[in-house]
Amino acid sequence: MVQFFKGIITNTETDGRYHSNWLNMMYSRLLVARQLLREDGVIFISIDDNEVHHLRKLCDDVFGEDNFIGIFTVNSSPSGIDYGHIAKTNDYAMFYAKNINCTETFYLEEAEKKFSFYDDIGGYNIAPLYNGNVAFNPQTRPNLYYPFYLNPESKIENSFYEIDVEYRENWVEVYPVISKKDGIQRVWRWGKPKAKENKNLEILGYKNTSGEYRIVQKNRLTSKLIRSILIDNEYSSRRGTGEIQELFGKKIFSYPKPTHLIKDFVRSACKGNDLFLDFFAGSGVSGDAVYQLNQENDENIKFILVQLPEQTDEKSEAYKAGYKKISDITIERNKRVVNKIITAKKVEQPDLFTEENKEENLQGLGFKVFKLAKSNFPRVDFAPDPTKTDEENVELLKKYIADKEAQLVNAFNREELLTEILLKKGFNLNYTTELQTQFTKNEILLAKDSEKECLICLDVTIANETVEYFKTHKTQKFICLERALDTTKKYNLKHYLGDLVDVF
Ligand SMILES: C[S@@+](CC[C@H](N)C(=O)[O-])C[C@H]1O[C@@H](n2cnc3c(N)ncnc32)[C@H](O)[C@@H]1O
Repeated sequence: MVQFFKGIITNTETDGRYHSNWLNMMYSRLLVARQLLREDGVIFISIDDNEVHHLRKLCDDVFGEDNFIGIFTVNSSPSGIDYGHIAKTNDYAMFYAKNINCTETFYLEEAEKKFSFYDDIGGYNIAPLYNGNVAFNPQTRPNLYYPFYLNPESKIENSFYEIDVEYRENWVEVYPVISKKDGIQRVWRWGKPKAKENKNLEILGYKNTSGEYRIVQKNRLTSKLIRSILIDNEYSSRRGTGEIQELFGKKIFSYPKPTHLIKDFVRSACKGNDLFLDFFAGSGVSGDAVYQLNQENDENIKFILVQLPEQTDEKSEAYKAGYKKISDITIERNKRVVNKIITAKKVEQPDLFTEENKEENLQGLGFKVFKLAKSNFPRVDFAPDPTKTDEENVELLKKYIADKEAQLVNAFNREELLTEILLKKGFNLNYTTELQTQFTKNEILLAKDSEKECLICLDVTIANETVEYFKTHKTQKFICLERALDTTKKYNLKHYLGDLVDVF
């Protein structure tokens, strides 16, 4: 499980308690974040240089110094934003584990990798064998400075030359280069014994386009660890803005993260059915990134985006376009991304979304929107009145309970109550429901998620026929409202289903 969140709040720098406000806001959220994380989970936190030093301390406190994995430097504004004295081109992302001993990270597949050469083992590219570390030179690393001998008459795999580390008459002597950039004499990355062994002809002689002989190493890697410097222009917020512009036709969100960045975070930390949580969802970029990855890799990573119903500025493009709250943008972007993916798939394969196979082919492409709301179950806050007698208080309590029950029965929204009960029963948010037509007197749904299922009825009266059904069907869990049962029905249901019946 991964969390990604952005530490931006409405907090003015003129406020004398600017940093302390920020720290208070973040501290409580990080504590909750830690609690929500799975033991093998990690967190990415995007941050700029105003608070990066404070965030590091906060995270050391909340997650523990040992769980610090690293800080990414992100090339967020390649052309540089003039801050006076300095043009800022980067921001940061902090990377912590909940428990470093359980953390598993993944190499990033380089889907686009193209090979220039092939041998019996497969494709490869070549990289010079010299060491790029400027602190390494013949004085500091004498064992890495020696000549290779290259046979200019030989031909290996069409483009390469035979080499040896021992002297060979008439062969060309090849030393590591003197860097044109810094004038430093380079040394090799391999010592002589390893070079002599040269398993699978991993290093070879090569003539570059200027006709100079070089020693090169085959590189077959198709994946790599995520880099701590994310330098590509694809990581810039300009790219993020371009994505918004493409989806909405206008710039309705300032400085959105590009999907490329979030995809790399997700790819390096999530697999299969993992869950990605973004606390500060903003433009909804994390949903976009997860959809894309699931399509590319045939995975089923889930996401939860959380966004406050923060108002957009009345003068903003977003407001003018009808998005009065940031959460409206979050939702709309995710709808548009799903539609875009479906449209593209239909072009490739028009029969993918017929009535019969629609459900199956839409797997992993939908989302539900939940609003945080007051519980449908009225809070019990009755307190006996000390000026009244016991009998009077009992009467007051009875009236109180009747009023509360009436509130539940009359005022509830079926969909909301269903969600609340299923969440209380430990169902995942991506549960599905299906009407059970064998029940003719009550509306009964079969609710399912990947781990469990139950029958649920929110009718205010449970019919005798429904109770009797369970006399012969005793294996399915059944949930209903307490108010919907009189004493006899309650007794019978308990008798038929035992612990499988649950009342609310
Ligand atoms: C910069 S945006 C996130 C952008 C997002 N990563 C994207 O690329 O679209 C920061 C988000 O955090 C939310 N936010 C700001 N202060 C918050 C707070 N105190 N608690 C929760 N959310 C907050 C804002 O509503 C905003 O959507």
